[in-house]
Amino acid sequence: MKMKKLEIKLGQLLSSLSYALDIAENRYFDHSRRTAYIAYCIADELGLKEEDIIDVYYSALIHDIGMAGQMAKYSVLEIHSDPELKKEHCLYGYRIIDKLPIKRDIKEYILYHHEEWQGTGPFGLRGDEIPLGSQIIILADYFELFFVREMKRGVEYYNTESARKWLKEYRGKLSSDILCDALLSATEREKFWLDLMSNNMNQVLRMIEPGKNISIDIYGLHKISEAFSMLIDAKSRFTYEHSKGISNITGKFATYLGYDPIMVEKLIIAADLHDIGKFVVPLDILEKPGKLDSTEYSIIKSHAYYTKLILKQVEGLEDIAEWAGNHHEKLNGKGYPEKLDERVLTREDQIIAFADIYQALTEDRPYREGMAPKEAIDIMAGMVKKGELCGSLLSDFKQLVL
Ligand SMILES: [Fe+2]
Ligand SMILES: [Fe+2]
Ligand SMILES: [Fe+2]
Repeated sequence: MKMKKLEIKLGQLLSSLSYALDIAENRYFDHSRRTAYIAYCIADELGLKEEDIIDVYYSALIHDIGMAGQMAKYSVLEIHSDPELKKEHCLYGYRIIDKLPIKRDIKEYILYHHEEWQGTGPFGLRGDEIPLGSQIIILADYFELFFVREMKRGVEYYNTESARKWLKEYRGKLSSDILCDALLSATEREKFWLDLMSNNMNQVLRMIEPGKNISIDIYGLHKISEAFSMLIDAKSRFTYEHSKGISNITGKFATYLGYDPIMVEKLIIAADLHDIGKFVVPLDILEKPGKLDSTEYSIIKSHAYYTKLILKQVEGLEDIAEWAGNHHEKLNGKGYPEKLDERVLTREDQIIAFADIYQALTEDRPYREGMAPKEAIDIMAGMVKKGELCGSLLSDFKQLVL
């Protein structure tokens, strides 16, 4: 167990988290990535400084972070047509972002990303009272929605004429003349449209990505994973403290087992993010009071698959992605979603699985009280008997919790 330094590219991380936000129910797939692309083009056309372009790009990637968590029950349309909900998701997003190790500017861009040039946005800012980054995001955001509408309408190829018309309509209302002109000149490039039409936005972003070399260390990553674990937990009242509880247990267990502090930190990050794939599961399935039918159960189970898919997009996060994504696998190969077994499952995978099972058994749910530790351990001993969990690890775990 050697200390290993961990450096993660911030752009890649934010891009993969934006993917997590966009695969959620009622969301536009790749909305945030396309919005970030358009925002980047506008900022670039305006000739902004490199560091300002980076800020705009990062904030556009996660501009809709406030639509996750407790706001997950509303559709995009509801949030964007109801003035109260518009304001609420901006404020909620700001509260989450405030916990991230990123610049103040980015936080403000997200708070004001629905302010309209003529002063009709949720906070009533007008004209240049609105931070430039927010001005760029709202234009990129609405242009992206327009682009998707066009494509859905069956328009087979891009149409610069209709884009021009759209921009004319919003000029001076949503955005300033200068920004509309910048976007207009971006739309004159064929590449702009071909990039937007690509079904691999991740790759498109990798090619243009500003600030490619900006990275964060493990402590920065931990702050981000903690904030996301809050969003995951906040989605359903059934799980309001689930990830937090698992991270606590994981931290204690890993320390007890003698892992070095960096490994403990990495395991806690995996615990924070183990259910990030739950963004994909509709709330009415997550909270269904009765028995789930087989389709609903398949959808629930897919969350572990998405956890790995999201985290694997980030270089340097490979092992964290494995531990997080394998939390429902069983040593006898009867878990999901990959049916991995003891030949490949690692001790780290089991640690997260242990924490997950124990936390689920002992936490209160709206319809039942949590079990006592002893009762939970008995159930886990039954799972050891069935070959699902590691017996020697359970002896250690028992020492820790009883
Ligand atoms: Fe928004
Ligand atoms: Fe948006
Ligand atoms: Fe899970």
